[in-house]
Amino acid sequence: RRFYRVDSNYDLLRYLDRGEVAAYQNRWTFEVSWEVANKVGGIYTVLKSKALISTEELGNQYILLGPYKEHSVRTEVENLDFPEDSPLHKAVSVMRERGHKVYTGTWLVEGNPQVILFDIGSVSYKLHEFKHDLWSKANIGIPHLDIEANDAVIFGYQIAQFINEFERAVKEFSELTPRIVAHFHEWQAGVGLIFLRMWGVQVATIFTTHATLLGRYLCAGNTDFYNNLNRFNVDEEAGKRQIYHRYCLERAASHFAHIFTTVSEITSYEAENLLKRKPDIVTPNGLNIVKFSALHEFQNLHATSKEKIHEFVRGHFYGHYNFDLEKTLYFFTAGRYEFINKGADIFIESLARLNHYIKAGGLDMTVVAFLIFPAKTNNFNVESLRGHAVTKSLRDALNDIQHNMNKRMYEICLRGRMPESDELLLKEDKVRIKRCLYALQRNDLPPITTHNVIDDWSDPILNSIRRCHLFNTIHDRVKSTRYLQIVFHPEFLNSTNPLFGLDYEDFIRGCHLGVFPSYYEPWGYTPAECTIMGIPSITTNLSGFGCFMQEHIADPMSYGIYVVDRRFISLEDSVRQLSQYMFDFTRLSRRQRIIQRNRTERLSDLLDWKNLGLFYRLARAKALQKVFPDFIMDEEAEMDRSKRFRYPRPYSEPPSPGSSRLTTPGTSVRGSDTEDSIDDETENMYRTDKEMITLCKEPSLTDENN
Ligand code: UDP
Ligand code: G6P
Ligand code: GLC
Repeated sequence: RRFYRVDSNYDLLRYLDRGEVAAYQNRWTFEVSWEVANKVGGIYTVLKSKALISTEELGNQYILLGPYKEHSVRTEVENLDFPEDSPLHKAVSVMRERGHKVYTGTWLVEGNPQVILFDIGSVSYKLHEFKHDLWSKANIGIPHLDIEANDAVIFGYQIAQFINEFERAVKEFSELTPRIVAHFHEWQAGVGLIFLRMWGVQVATIFTTHATLLGRYLCAGNTDFYNNLNRFNVDEEAGKRQIYHRYCLERAASHFAHIFTTVSEITSYEAENLLKRKPDIVTPNGLNIVKFSALHEFQNLHATSKEKIHEFVRGHFYGHYNFDLEKTLYFFTAGRYEFINKGADIFIESLARLNHYIKAGGLDMTVVAFLIFPAKTNNFNVESLRGHAVTKSLRDALNDIQHNMNKRMYEICLRGRMPESDELLLKEDKVRIKRCLYALQRNDLPPITTHNVIDDWSDPILNSIRRCHLFNTIHDRVKSTRYLQIVFHPEFLNSTNPLFGLDYEDFIRGCHLGVFPSYYEPWGYTPAECTIMGIPSITTNLSGFGCFMQEHIADPMSYGIYVVDRRFISLEDSVRQLSQYMFDFTRLSRRQRIIQRNRTERLSDLLDWKNLGLFYRLARAKALQKVFPDFIMDEEAEMDRSKRFRYPRPYSEPPSPGSSRLTTPGTSVRGSDTEDSIDDETENMYRTDKEMITLCKEPSLTDENN
């Protein structure tokens, strides 16, 4: 490839790869978070899924900084040293000489970004010195007993020192002024930003908040949050909850940052009121979208994963397993265990009503609802493990018997005669089967939870289930159909899980509906993850994701995104709406579910980092411009070009059973209900909608035209 030496740098940049542009400009980007290679919640997902576009854009000029966590590092990070002639190597060496344990390598995720991880323990003996510095420079005191805040101080100090050293080192390597962006996520990383600004280091800083501390606490405590947002006495509220010092760190970081961002409009409004600074940019969260070569591959994956969930259900409900899996739907909710914030309270309440609706409506369907929230446990309970052991031994016995029967029949038929019935199933086979059947009997009910929950008596989910009498009983049985079953799995899923044998992603694929009726949810990755896998979900107009979808799609529900109103109606009405949505979904035919999944999956582009990464680029460019006014920024023009676009309402069948029959071209013209015909039909729809989306992205065809 030819490089052109031209007068203006800007022209030259057009001939370079994106990673080379950053190197040419001596531009470096550090992204700092507690959740780098350390899974806690959604911030980990932000960094991990964004890594590919970040490295594509910035190459080796992009580095993630995080805490050293031995367990995660062992499984997620490949240890590697930086080349000796790199400023990164120099800065790391200086830190090591000062006694910090620093690990370097690459994160084993798509994009394979460079990471530098700091061992907090290695300099914990200096905690008082760091705290003193923070107090004398920023007047923020950290109480001795708050271990998390103390860790944040050590981590922040390490980060600030490292970036300071790096800024010095990089000047030795190049004559060009280094353009360094340090992007900090959430209050735990914010101390680093505060120190950098206090010390006057010449770097452009960004602070992104993924929630406000006070917001999270106030909502978890049953406050009428959104109606009082501008009325809270923030200092007093933080003080009452003993988080004043954390609040100060968060507020200081947001005010010191050159550019302050958050993940959604709703959290922007919250930050403006609680942190007293309006974010400069909203940076919505994306995902790394994997496109399958076959258009409907995700539908096949749904069927494969669902079969594994079926297997779990057979084991869990053994002895009471009398529902038809062909007529069973799997609903689930998942997340960090914040009972009220994540809407687990109204989910359980609505499940009780759903049970009643199904019964009253005479629907021949069963719903199994999974709740996945990590809680303190003493591992799996015996009942759950036993269920899977007895079903496995039955399956093994039947496989053996079948295999032997097959051999016997073959031998007999070879001799030219039909096998007698007593030659098929032998007496000892019958005995073996009977033994298995006896093992399948049980006196107790199938358990609600798969684990021994440590605080069983005070656990909010278990208590709500008790209050709503949602035990896995058979009292509700009419014509041997049970309507609702609940499974509380108090641990995140992974593929080594002995009960499911599925990781979280495959579990989502196997389910029919994700239910996330959050009250406090700045973004909410869980419904977004469902969407890109083509699984419909329920979200709320208090979640960043829900509002984002409402803003960009003319009719979210027809795309399988049900948005519960938790803002403008009473709690009772929200519960009613949620129950109704779940009931409506339960009434869909298989055909309608398949069509809806196709539509849901089509929304993936909207959530692709390839599109949403623009907001991060814009934030970096704006921050750089504040510190280096000569920095050229072309992100704003790009921003203008990609003005907001809306998905039109799909042309095809709306998902409600009533109206769909009349409007579906496939059914009325061909009268066909086969899966092939669905696929042909949706493939055509797919093309049409794709064309529409492309058109809608043109500036001349924005919202009002659709
Ligand atoms: N998650 C997971 N395993 C599970 C359940 C959830 O890995 O069994 C992940 C999920 O993929 C999502 C994250 O946890 O990326 C939760 O992020 P979200 O933004 O929904 O909420 P947060 O926990 O950050 O408040
Ligand atoms: C996918 C598969 C079909 C399967 C269907 C089940 O579309 O490709 O083979 O029949 O899922 O859908 P359901 O909503 O009943 O799980
Ligand atoms: C926070 C929020 C969550 C968001 C995530 C990533 O943990 O609670 O709603 O999706 O950060 O931004």
